[in-house]
Amino acid sequence: MMKIFIFLFISLFLSSGYAVEPEIDLDLGEEINQVCAGCHGEYGEGGKDGEYPRLAGLPADYIAAQIKLFKNEKRKNMPMRPYANDRELPDEDIPSVAAFLSQIKLTSEMPDFDETVTAYEKLLIAKKVFNIPKLEGDIELGEELYVDDCQLCHGKNGAGKDDSDTPPLAGQYTQYMTKQILQFANGERWHEYAEELFAEMEPEEIQAIMAYLSITDD
Ligand code: HEC
Ligand code: HEC
Repeated sequence: MMKIFIFLFISLFLSSGYAVEPEIDLDLGEEINQVCAGCHGEYGEGGKDGEYPRLAGLPADYIAAQIKLFKNEKRKNMPMRPYANDRELPDEDIPSVAAFLSQIKLTSEMPDFDETVTAYEKLLIAKKVFNIPKLEGDIELGEELYVDDCQLCHGKNGAGKDDSDTPPLAGQYTQYMTKQILQFANGERWHEYAEELFAEMEPEEIQAIMAYLSITDD
């Protein structure tokens, strides 16, 4: 009799999902992000001309999936290595840091302030104003290529899609994205239809798409 009760109890416990679904804790996410901020910035704005990609506002599922790829070294990157491992970032903490970074909103313009806003508040808001530098290149060709080959998945103007594990491309550093495309082309990083999309892309075409994307966040 006792055995049946214990069995029922364990089944209920497991089926409640409590044991398997990690909780999302934004405070924990913020705490973890203090380590990430050393490279990706306090607000996930990235830095060093795109050596460190922007993370703010990327879909949480996408961020979580990439961290897992770094952890199991399907996506290889030396700087991420000491942070993306079970000791530093256990799997159950990933959804929290992903959710924290995903909800950060950077703006591309300084808003108009009324007199009630203090200098300190202005400073905090200014820290979240972020713009990708405009890149030289054939913007018209870039838009054409983007609409034909990329828009279906990455959304209109590179804005991404809601609730998607496909990243937006607008607002991301062009140097970083160019590096990713070269990795897709030579198979170092996985991308759907990489062969068809990137293997035969000319450097001027990549430059053109990047020039177009560099003005889509203005
Ligand atoms: C020592 C610097 C450094 C630290 C600290 C760091 N990262 Fe990174 N991270 C990088 C670099 C460099 C890349 C770009 C890798 C590449 O070029 O493929 C990256 C890429 C990423 C990406 C992929 C972004 C994308 O658009 O695909 C995610 C997600 C990420 N990091 C999350 C984190 C999180 C979360 C932390 C903290 C737990 C963290 N990183 C700490 C250097 C760092
Ligand atoms: C069939 C859908 C699809 C198409 C078409 C597509 N992408 Fe992607 N792209 C994705 C997905 C999904 C990812 C995330 C891959 C992963 O999980 O690592 C991605 C990732 C990327 C990234 C990396 C972003 C980051 O933050 O690291 C870049 C850059 C990119 N794509 C550029 C392009 C360009 C340029 C085109 C058009 C020439 C294109 N993609 C067409 C689905 C697509």
